[in-house]
Amino acid sequence: MSYEVPVVHTVREMRARVGAWRAGGARIGLVPTMGALHAGHISLVEAARRHAERVIATVFVNPTQFAPGEDFSRYPRTLPADCEKLAAVKADLVFAPAVEEMYPAGFCTTVSLEGPAKADLEDRFRPTHFPGVATVVAKLLNQAQADVAVFGEKDYQQLRVIETMARDLDIATRIFGAATLRDPDGLAMSSRNVYLSAEDRARAPALHRALSEAAERIAEGAAIGAVMEEARAAITAAGFAIDYVEARDARTLARVADRSEGPIRILAAARLGATRLIDNVAVDA
Ligand code: PAF
Repeated sequence: MSYEVPVVHTVREMRARVGAWRAGGARIGLVPTMGALHAGHISLVEAARRHAERVIATVFVNPTQFAPGEDFSRYPRTLPADCEKLAAVKADLVFAPAVEEMYPAGFCTTVSLEGPAKADLEDRFRPTHFPGVATVVAKLLNQAQADVAVFGEKDYQQLRVIETMARDLDIATRIFGAATLRDPDGLAMSSRNVYLSAEDRARAPALHRALSEAAERIAEGAAIGAVMEEARAAITAAGFAIDYVEARDARTLARVADRSEGPIRILAAARLGATRLIDNVAVDA
């Protein structure tokens, strides 16, 4: 008989499973997701498996990280298909809580953030996003009491925000980032890629191409300011409306003027029609 991944909907049920696994000496890995899983998410489960005997994937479209007018209500919800994909990689448990389980009546706490959450990148365009992400992730980490949790580098600022929060709040779970999975033409895998029209899908790889070229040129010693101007021009010429395309300190996300200042990450968000794509690449040291 084929394996079916167990699904629980309450914190209590998840903790009962975790308690039993721990009693048997297993390490626990957590992969928080909003569902609509693709190969990128599955690679996070595989990464968690390298650090833990038991892996829990959470599937929760978190309302507090969407601003009014964003795509919360139309965000793809595909739990049965998600469970099939998770069963194929032998995830041990899916935690799929209802909104009321995560935010019961009277819920009134939000994690307040500075540092990488105020880098003038995503936060400039989505000011309520990271408080929503950090609050739900803090809850998930506390609920699961996992040894490790894995997040994709595709949401690079989010990864930095979560690492900083876990450090500052003494959350015992170790946070790992996992490399972005890409389609063969370079487009970063994202649940939101399904929104792209055929025409926009054909244009979309230009974003990663421009970021990769910029990273190469900076690594070769070209001036960051000029390279970033060229990258923005290439992305605009490909039909994108740019929110930001920036070279930043890879750890703090502070602005950098010169590559001698430390490891650099190039981060971008740009829109094709109504679809907003984000991506980032490392500059080789
Ligand atoms: O990256 C995501 O899918 C979400 O922001 C996360 C981390 C699952 C929190 O809702």
